[in-house]
Amino acid sequence: MRNTWTSSIFISLIFFISKIQAEPIYLDYQASTPVDPRVFETMVPYFTKEFGNPHSTTHIYGIRAHKAVEQARAEIAKIINAQPEEIIFTSGATEANNLAILGACRALKHLGKNEIISVSTEHKSVLEPLQALKREGFKIIILPVQKNGLLRLEDLVNALSSKTILVSVMAANNEIGVLQPIKEISKLAQQYGALFHTDAAQAYGKIPIDVVEDGIDLLSISGHKIYGPKGVGALYIKKGVTVLPLSYGGGQERNLRPGTLPTPLCVGLGEASRIAYEKMQLESQKLITLRNKLLALLQENLPDIILNGDLKARLPGNINISIKGVDGRLLLSRLTGIAASVGSACTSANIDVSYVIQALDPEEALPPANLRISLGRYTTEHDVDQAASEIIKVVKSLREKYPKGGRRSCLTNIQHLNK
Ligand SMILES: Cc1ncc(COP(=O)(O)O)c(C=O)c1O
Repeated sequence: MRNTWTSSIFISLIFFISKIQAEPIYLDYQASTPVDPRVFETMVPYFTKEFGNPHSTTHIYGIRAHKAVEQARAEIAKIINAQPEEIIFTSGATEANNLAILGACRALKHLGKNEIISVSTEHKSVLEPLQALKREGFKIIILPVQKNGLLRLEDLVNALSSKTILVSVMAANNEIGVLQPIKEISKLAQQYGALFHTDAAQAYGKIPIDVVEDGIDLLSISGHKIYGPKGVGALYIKKGVTVLPLSYGGGQERNLRPGTLPTPLCVGLGEASRIAYEKMQLESQKLITLRNKLLALLQENLPDIILNGDLKARLPGNINISIKGVDGRLLLSRLTGIAASVGSACTSANIDVSYVIQALDPEEALPPANLRISLGRYTTEHDVDQAASEIIKVVKSLREKYPKGGRRSCLTNIQHLNK
């Protein structure tokens, strides 16, 4: 009996260890981040003991939940130099982008202005609400980017007019990590009396943002990109800027976003913001060092790879490379030791080539396979070394085996980069 027990424990242990070893190295921090254990600890009491409705402040349960939500709001405001009352909780950056774009443009339509300017490499949660506004009669101007992913300011100047309501340009791109010159962009928008919105889902908590200094009217935030929980985000709305709500109900969040706030998620976003603010400089230095090491290893060992996006104006932890002579599908299926995002070129019509990568060089009919690697808080130098050796090994072997680039058939398990 004892022997059976011992051997079953031993087998479970081996299974457990083999599972741990089989886990790929996580290099997809721009898609999502794990919740920081400190954030999780802060959230826990608000699921059970502190369960009060933060809007029911006639008793101590509600008052304590209310206080916690307001403290979180203050933490979020602090990191971007805003006032707490300028922060509206949302379910994430998607909702914040929708509220900012639809809400602000609909509110200003009566002034006779109807033009909105944005950029081709924006996230779908910006581009799609713009399409909705187009159907409502607004004129949407989508500007191209340069080969390095940056918006050309002259293009913006040429597009701006007295009819421009809103300029929406993201702070950091989710695929190529490029940082747009938001301060210069907001200045130009202001000269034409237009509002400036920035989708900061990828930038918030990672690079310094000052809504006053940077002239931002509306800014979108996401919890799960900064080691906070999924399902929560926020919209900064500058005092005096009018936004119409997208839904109606109990009047919460200054009548702009009704519904009972999810206290644990709000608390988590607040704590994640506090930690991000405290650690921003150190973390970004660490990520730049690791990112540069990984990039150098890849560039030294693999000919014919291209770094997409500007190297200087870039998020600390982002690498996005195009790998010539390799089929994206094969790359995805062979890179089993790392969890990153792979985009593919494919001749068949039923597969998306990343529209962000295409926007960098619209002339190129078929961009090569591309790989987004995003490093984060828990990435180690060992991870980087392992990842480099895996990518180098796989790319070399695919190039040897398929000198013409391999199959260009279209499988269906491609992971889209639009996160
Ligand atoms: C640039 C950008 N905007 C918006 C979003 C949407 O964020 P959320 O998942 O919080 O809705 C994402 C994340 O996928 C993003 O990367």
